[in-house]
Amino acid sequence: MRDFRSYMALLEERGDVVHVTKEVDPKFELAALMCKIENAGKAYAFENVKGAQFPLVGGHFTSLERYKDLHDIPKDQPFSRLEHAKILERAVAEPLEPKIMNTGAVKDVIKVGDAINLSELPIPTFFEDDSGAFITGAVGISRNPATGELNVGTYRSLKLDDQTLTVNASTMSDLRSIYNHHRDSGEEMHLALAIGVDPALLMAAVGKPPATVSEFGVAGGLREEPLALVKAEHSDLLVPADAEIIIEGVIDFSQEIEHTLGEFAGQYGPETNPLFRVTAITHRKDPNFYCILAGANPEHNTVGSVAIYSAEKSIMEDLVKQFPIIKALHVVIDAKVAGPMLQLFIQIDKKSDDEPMELIKAAFESTAGYLPVSLIFKRIVVVDGDIDIYNYNDVEWAIWSRVADASKIHLIPEAVSWELERSAASKEGHKSFRIGIDATMDLEDVDKLKRPIIPGFDDVRVEDFV
Ligand SMILES: Cc1cc2nc3c(=O)[nH]c(=O)nc-3n(C[C@H](O)[C@H](O)[C@H](O)COP(=O)(O)O)c2cc1C
Repeated sequence: MRDFRSYMALLEERGDVVHVTKEVDPKFELAALMCKIENAGKAYAFENVKGAQFPLVGGHFTSLERYKDLHDIPKDQPFSRLEHAKILERAVAEPLEPKIMNTGAVKDVIKVGDAINLSELPIPTFFEDDSGAFITGAVGISRNPATGELNVGTYRSLKLDDQTLTVNASTMSDLRSIYNHHRDSGEEMHLALAIGVDPALLMAAVGKPPATVSEFGVAGGLREEPLALVKAEHSDLLVPADAEIIIEGVIDFSQEIEHTLGEFAGQYGPETNPLFRVTAITHRKDPNFYCILAGANPEHNTVGSVAIYSAEKSIMEDLVKQFPIIKALHVVIDAKVAGPMLQLFIQIDKKSDDEPMELIKAAFESTAGYLPVSLIFKRIVVVDGDIDIYNYNDVEWAIWSRVADASKIHLIPEAVSWELERSAASKEGHKSFRIGIDATMDLEDVDKLKRPIIPGFDDVRVEDFV
């Protein structure tokens, strides 16, 4: 698997990087250009961001095609999300523990005390109502007091001043539990942000491996080579030795900052987080500031989609024990269609007409290890074996053509929803509806509802007849 710099070099070789040498304003102008370039299918390098010392790069991992390049999969070889999921599953099953080095390129330059100046970094302000400038392409490293192990996730951080940030932990993140522990116990909490890391680590950080497996190990499994780590300057945290930039610091719970940022689902997401007081910045001699364009844009949504593979696996494992009739299960995340809400499409081979509704109810109640399905899944659709659950239109077709009876619709009028379902924000207890649809054919109707097929279709070749 390619590392950060070799992947940048590949994009460069292909002519896939737009270099912007003119000065660009980090407030809005930069985001507008990133958005236009990224949505035109190119990566970018902004070499002259007003007030900053280093270039901003990004727009790298914008599609499954780009992930294919990352894994060096030949152009003509098919690579679907399922193949990608298999790569990730293998890395979780066969993690490679990191090796600890004495030093690394990320220690080329070490800045502490007055030398710390976050304004050196080209941090963009993306959207009109954003609270300020956000670092979006960093992975955050902290120690989980519950396990004693290092925890890695991808979090966005708002710049408050030249030496202070606030790192955003969602309610579902391990980081949120780690914050809560330290706030309650009063124990000191260290955190490090690593910017421009090996893409394997970015992928592992977004995913949610089981508690017994570390994200650093998963990254090693993905690269088929251990990740190299070095000790942080001011704590016992370990950070990637070849990252572009590391920002280290301590969490200060004396203040909680409310802030907002345009989210992956095309809405604003208000958050409240403690202060992150920076105690050191270390970086390469010529660091690149990797940045993921915020909002419902290709790189954010492609990198984020990696997280669904682990959710899919845990939900499947949970449900298939009770319902061996399940043939396949698809967690659908598509911000352009369903905003912040997920859907679950389940393909079954039913033996009775009661099974689909029992499955829908059990699926909404599943916690899949860490995540209550009803918290973020708004719709569950159960279909027959002849429906392609990876094809949105096919599932819609089943709903519209195979459901006549209202009892095949299960409505949960009030389910506690996650913070990004903004339409629930003003409802008591942040509640919203959930819907389950049994779109399978009633067994007595199979002959009426089955799809017309042409017998022998696959064996007939046009070239044999013309
Ligand atoms: C581009 C991007 C930005 C993200 N930003 C955040 C964030 O600000 N806060 C958060 O808690 N999760 C965020 N996530 C999701 C987390 O990375 C993911 O849930 C991860 O598993 C959290 O790690 P943890 O549970 O080990 O703390 C983001 C994901 C992506 C792809």
